[in-house]
Amino acid sequence: MSSSLPVTHYLKDYQPSNYQIDSIELTFDLDPLATRVTNVMQMTFSPNASDDRRLVLNGQKITLLECWINGNLLSAEDYDLDDEFLTLSPSLDAFELKIVTQCAPQNNTSLEGLYRTSGNYCTQCEALGFQTITYYLDRPDVLSFFTTKIIADKSQNAVLLSNGNLVEASDLPDGKHYAVWHDPFKKPCYLFALVAGNLSLIQDTYQTMDGRLVDLRIYVEPQNIDKCDHAMASLKKSMQWDEERYGLVYDLDIYMIVAVDDFNMGAMENKGLNVFNSKFVLAKPETATDVDYEGIESVIAHEYFHNWTGNRVTCRDWFQLTLKEGLTVFRDQEFTGDMLSIPVKRIEDVKRLRSNQFPEDAGPMAHPIQPQSYIEMNNFYTMTVYEKGAEVVRLYQTLLGRDGFRKGMDLYFQRHDGQAVTVEDFRNAMADANHVDLSQMQAWYVQEGTPVVTAKTHYDAKLQTLTLSLEQTLKGKVPQQPLMIPVLIGFMGYDGQPLTLMPSVQDKNSLEERGDSWLLKLTEPKQDFIFEQVATYPVISYLRDFSAPIILKTPNALPELEVLAQYDSNAFVRWESMQALALASMEQGVSAYQQQQPLTLLPSFAAAFASVLADSSLDLSLKALALTLPEMTYVADQYTEIPLEAIQAVHQFTQQALAEKFSQALLQTYESLQVNEPYRYEKQAIAQRKLKNVCLKYLAKLPQNLAIAVNQFEQKSNMTDVLSALEVLSHHQTADSAKCLQAFYQDWSKDSLVLDKWFSIQAAAQVPDILAQINQLLQHPDFKYTNPNRVRSVLGVFGRLNWVGFHQASGTGYQLLAEQVIKLNGINPQIASRLVAPLSHWKRYDSGRRLLMRQALESILATENLSKDVYEIVSRSLA
Ligand code: ARG
Ligand code: ZN
Repeated sequence: MSSSLPVTHYLKDYQPSNYQIDSIELTFDLDPLATRVTNVMQMTFSPNASDDRRLVLNGQKITLLECWINGNLLSAEDYDLDDEFLTLSPSLDAFELKIVTQCAPQNNTSLEGLYRTSGNYCTQCEALGFQTITYYLDRPDVLSFFTTKIIADKSQNAVLLSNGNLVEASDLPDGKHYAVWHDPFKKPCYLFALVAGNLSLIQDTYQTMDGRLVDLRIYVEPQNIDKCDHAMASLKKSMQWDEERYGLVYDLDIYMIVAVDDFNMGAMENKGLNVFNSKFVLAKPETATDVDYEGIESVIAHEYFHNWTGNRVTCRDWFQLTLKEGLTVFRDQEFTGDMLSIPVKRIEDVKRLRSNQFPEDAGPMAHPIQPQSYIEMNNFYTMTVYEKGAEVVRLYQTLLGRDGFRKGMDLYFQRHDGQAVTVEDFRNAMADANHVDLSQMQAWYVQEGTPVVTAKTHYDAKLQTLTLSLEQTLKGKVPQQPLMIPVLIGFMGYDGQPLTLMPSVQDKNSLEERGDSWLLKLTEPKQDFIFEQVATYPVISYLRDFSAPIILKTPNALPELEVLAQYDSNAFVRWESMQALALASMEQGVSAYQQQQPLTLLPSFAAAFASVLADSSLDLSLKALALTLPEMTYVADQYTEIPLEAIQAVHQFTQQALAEKFSQALLQTYESLQVNEPYRYEKQAIAQRKLKNVCLKYLAKLPQNLAIAVNQFEQKSNMTDVLSALEVLSHHQTADSAKCLQAFYQDWSKDSLVLDKWFSIQAAAQVPDILAQINQLLQHPDFKYTNPNRVRSVLGVFGRLNWVGFHQASGTGYQLLAEQVIKLNGINPQIASRLVAPLSHWKRYDSGRRLLMRQALESILATENLSKDVYEIVSRSLA
């Protein structure tokens, strides 16, 4: 770290800006090494509490050339300039400020601000990248009208794009040309975008429900023009869904999406001009898997939905990020559920939450969905702000119902269109529209950690009453403020027949009937719910639909789990019960391993597995999910000190034992799902492929079945099947496996997104000499440190998905990752800091690994010129 410690920013210090920027006219004279930016702003003084007249503009990594106020050129004595700020002391209340700066997009490898990708220009301004383009009040509560003129060499940059509508374009001398764009909506600068280069486009139109025709355009590099149809179809579906579900209509005459290969995140919702990681745009059956297709559909929707939840109503400050991200993730989850399958989407989201957000919330980087402080804002684009944030938004819908939620949304837009607001404003709209008190929801925003709710039951056979006690704790203690936790439950007999139970009268306020379920509203640290006239002790189906983002400890034992896995009307609980049985099986395996006893499958798990496999009425996607074992890391999360070797051995054993025990049925299922049809991205076809490939994964545990995988690979039906086959082969160091990997490279070395898959598969392989393999991948001529997707496909995958390989007892995995983080720190700090997470959980491992992981973190911290990004994660991890 350099001499001074980085600054921490606090929510409690928020103050409105003392200046407003009424309009901004930008002129870009594009040049790879010397882009000139002229920025003319109409400013007004708007005194805030502090009464300070100084105008403090943000600006970094740019060269100030000129600064003018009302046509008078300022000299160096007229302002203060340092690495981060340009401070002026204007004496007028309204004036024109003109600032001319220079920057070098070609040298910008951080991919923040204005940079180059595949020879084109593009921008990424969220969160605080605009200040690397020009001096500005870089904060989301300063909204302005933007006009942007782009001047560039015409042969290199045929396409010139910015936000809003094109108002003028023409040729200039010396082979140059220009275009002027005007955005009629006021916006914060993080939504600014500029794109220039040689791009091809596909075009379509969408007619809004109020009858306007919107021009839809997707711009890509020319070689990718055949991979845009799915993205375009997704955009149109999103536009229609937002009209139908929320009455929200698009507001400009043009909507543009640009796909670029070098992008730090998934995509960016710049007004009228979304910039996307090409991974979330480009697809055709030969190159993209079902997962890719679904990812594209949901990210296109997500960015589109931001136009209302994010752009029309934006955030007051960056601590409110979940206001737009939690809400927009919730919206895209609901959209995907409607497009494909509501229960399948719910289960997939819960899996993601548990494997990524729960660990984050239990580790050193834990933060509430409304963080109270940050050093580097980019570090807070997290699973917590996004996914837990979406769960908290979902709580409103669970409590208020879909109609009540819609009323809240309507009021939110009615009150706040065109404003920069806070999460309290959102909550107040929900409460006021439904005439309810939601103040207790506040605790979800400011308390970190996953709540644990413990359920206990007491059955009184004489009185025929069933008492269900729920108790909530947070980080092992009663939460500072108890949370409002809706727990959806249902009842059935041990024969699987649904039972209708009635709550006692005094509980009427704390529960609500929901179809065949009851919604219990837990608002106290501990609360009893009493049901009456209960003839026999029932099986209780807990936390249907995962009605709250909590860890629920139930008293259900194996017999109850078996009944629920087979009969529950709630698909989520059926899946959850299978997971619980698998977990129970693996946990007894871990004990056996530790006592050097032989490993076995738990009979009730094996029985449930058999019945799911044989159940012909079950949706194929749900079946695929139910037959998939919990990940090793989920098993690990159940232990205070992780027994890594035991978990690895038991996981391996369990897959192998199931493969042997059910080889006939698995093979039959696999074969019955072999269809000879062209690829379609459609619910039933996706489900078939999914189940088929789950079967293949088990089958491939038996050496005699590897030929099936080779055969599936060689069929080349579609990328989903090809990649699944290659994945199972990659764990075997056989001649066949090497041959298939080689063939895949031959076929796809020119397609960077497919090549990423080739890198990923090898980085995730469970092979003994994985470190040598990773080093080879890093030295491969196609490996590029400047391309985030490629870096993630090797280093991100190794650290996050190759649990066993990364955690080799020798610590070589840790060392390798630390060295790579240090290297990337100098190239792209955002990407470097994201790679650190796997090391941050060092306290959970055995003493040997703990020491080695800590040393790896310390070696990063000792690096000179450590970025704020990496410093914040590493120093918090070591604290
Ligand atoms: N707002 C974008 C989205 O979720 C994410 C941009 C984050 N970028 C960053 N550099 N932190 O759709
Ligand atoms: Zn977003």
